[in-house]
Amino acid sequence: MRTEPSILNPEETAFLVRQRVARLATADAEGNPHNIPVCFAYTPGAIYIALDEKPKDVPPTRLKRVRNIVENPSVALVADRYDEDWKLLAYLMVRGRAELVDLDAEEHKAAVRLLRGKYHQYQRMRIEENPVIAIRPERVASWGALDEPNARPQVLDAVRGRRSVRRYLDKAVPSDLVNSVLEAARWAPSPHGRQPWRFAVIAGRETKERLADAMGGEWRANLEMDGQDAEIVERRLEGSRQRLLDAPVLVLLCLYLEELDAYPDPERQKNETTMAVQSLGAAAQNALLAAYDQGLDAGWMCAPLFSPETVVKALGLDPKLIPHALLMLGYAEGDPPKRRSRLPLEDLIVYRD
Ligand SMILES: Cc1cc2nc3c(=O)[nH]c(=O)nc-3n(C[C@H](O)[C@H](O)[C@H](O)COP(=O)(O)O)c2cc1C
Repeated sequence: MRTEPSILNPEETAFLVRQRVARLATADAEGNPHNIPVCFAYTPGAIYIALDEKPKDVPPTRLKRVRNIVENPSVALVADRYDEDWKLLAYLMVRGRAELVDLDAEEHKAAVRLLRGKYHQYQRMRIEENPVIAIRPERVASWGALDEPNARPQVLDAVRGRRSVRRYLDKAVPSDLVNSVLEAARWAPSPHGRQPWRFAVIAGRETKERLADAMGGEWRANLEMDGQDAEIVERRLEGSRQRLLDAPVLVLLCLYLEELDAYPDPERQKNETTMAVQSLGAAAQNALLAAYDQGLDAGWMCAPLFSPETVVKALGLDPKLIPHALLMLGYAEGDPPKRRSRLPLEDLIVYRD
């Protein structure tokens, strides 16, 4: 995977990453143009396009776009938004050189992972059996309201499109978008409707540093207790710290058990707490989907669960709050490289008539 710094600015990157389709223009050696819609994945330094297996007579390498690239690697890719409200019009054009990434290249595997992470449809297609087109961006032009949200995805498309993002652009998140994310969390189902969770929003650099230092100290102690190699401990701690600092906004999800029912027996009390944790998970998923719906990306970090008291102290929170998870909010710097696939549905279900 190439990781050259992007020549796209943050607004252009955020716009491109969120598009589901673009138009690829190629030309043959005589300059005859050819232009087709394509699905693509983006990572800083490359745009990947699969040659998917389709019931065609020609092998993918005989496709016109591929022959053109071999004859003449100069290409342009356009992603655009049309709306009858012309204040929302926008487009981005990336020009660069295209090449075919062969099956035996490491980059091929990474590209297939990116494409499958972005399009669940590719999970059932044998795209790994064909070379992948890689465009190396050289010049970018953009115009219009890049920052406006795209048409909202359907709920099931958002459920499948949402992905854990761990690297973010240096691009601020408007506070009304953060509020909409929290508003969605507020509507999660909860035991007795008691909403046993509270949220802390953290955007300031110093507060993020305080939080990262506090959690890092405790994590270091735990890793050392596990007998991990000192160098690996340092590397993991630094990676996690950087992730926290680079995410534009952090939302700490805390359990708040004070208003739940009280039982005389510990078993039922434990179940009450379990229901609160289940509900926190529902609030988190609402928040993740609302973020995706609004053109943001998000990631989940479990770190606060391992040092709740330290986190409460570092942020000066009410001691009745029990930190459970951190959500990172921002704009992805590219399609995430580590999207996990899913078990087939039939492996997860038993039916009983
Ligand atoms: C309870 C929980 C804790 C998680 N903790 C972390 C974490 O600490 N760090 C991380 O990178 N991802 C974390 N994740 C994200 C998962 O790794 C991710 O959801 C999973 O790999 C599936 O990928 P996807 O979300 O992109 O579909 C967590 C997810 C859940 C539900």
